[in-house]
Amino acid sequence: MHAAPAVLPPAGAAPSVAIACDRVVKVYAREGAATRAVDGLSFAVAAGEYVCIIGRTGCGKSTTLNLLLGLQRPTAGSVRVLGHDPHAEFDALRGRMSCIFQGDRLLPWRSLLDNVRLPLEILGVDEAALAVGPADWLRRVGLDGYADALPAQVSGGMRQRAAMARALASDPRIVLADEAFGHLDEVTGQRIKADFRALVRDTGKTVLHITHSIEEAIAMADRILVMGGGRLWAAHETEAATRAAGGTEALRRLLYAQVQEAGEAAPGAAHG
Ligand SMILES: Nc1ncnc2c1ncn2[C@@H]1O[C@H](COP(=O)(O)OP(=O)(O)O)[C@@H](O)[C@H]1O
Ligand SMILES: [Mg+2]
Repeated sequence: MHAAPAVLPPAGAAPSVAIACDRVVKVYAREGAATRAVDGLSFAVAAGEYVCIIGRTGCGKSTTLNLLLGLQRPTAGSVRVLGHDPHAEFDALRGRMSCIFQGDRLLPWRSLLDNVRLPLEILGVDEAALAVGPADWLRRVGLDGYADALPAQVSGGMRQRAAMARALASDPRIVLADEAFGHLDEVTGQRIKADFRALVRDTGKTVLHITHSIEEAIAMADRILVMGGGRLWAAHETEAATRAAGGTEALRRLLYAQVQEAGEAAPGAAHG
């Protein structure tokens, strides 16, 4: 039996817990068949922490994110974001949590600036009251001079930068990312990831970033959680784990083996 990994953030990290999942189960029932997409998942993310969840396709990563966003309700167990149940208390988290998805999901008929403004319009936020306005966010993500451009007039990397600005515009406490950088070419992706990492660090955001890329997790996370079969399989503080493994490449191999193990041990895992 695999040892239960530590579910709490390291002691001495940030004091308060921003995200907490406790024995969460999510079962999808469709056409008579039930899929346990999340199956007893427990973990927590401290305020200000950058946590990556890695795991093979189908291990329940996106479902976990949807539960945190309040788009779905857990079948069992508890999900808390800033102390709130994200499904039952959806309104309490409005503007305090945002998400970046794999596609940029920009509205094609709106300029980049108007896309960044969109969450503020929806939330009814007075832009003048913001310390950092939408135009400033565009500058911060490196899109100075492109405020009036339409999404179709700029590159995929620039569109993802605009999506980043949009996610940060309401100054949320928590930013979730689901494979947000996976579709970009390597060089573009590296730059955007580095900029995103610096921006969220400078602004003290709590980030939960879901990715299938082990390299990305090592480069970006304070802590890496390995998921398999809808539950937590292992947890590593990146710096300490890199030292313990004897370097980044050794940690990459260890995580690769764990992702594989976690996938194989999972019930109903033999699909991918
Ligand atoms: N809406 C849904 N209805 C039925 N099954 C689903 C639904 N969404 C996801 N699943 C299933 O749940 C499992 C976990 O999916 P998902 O959370 O998307 O995994 P990941 O993001 O890690 O690839 C998969 O077996 C998937 O097919
Ligand atoms: Mg997914």
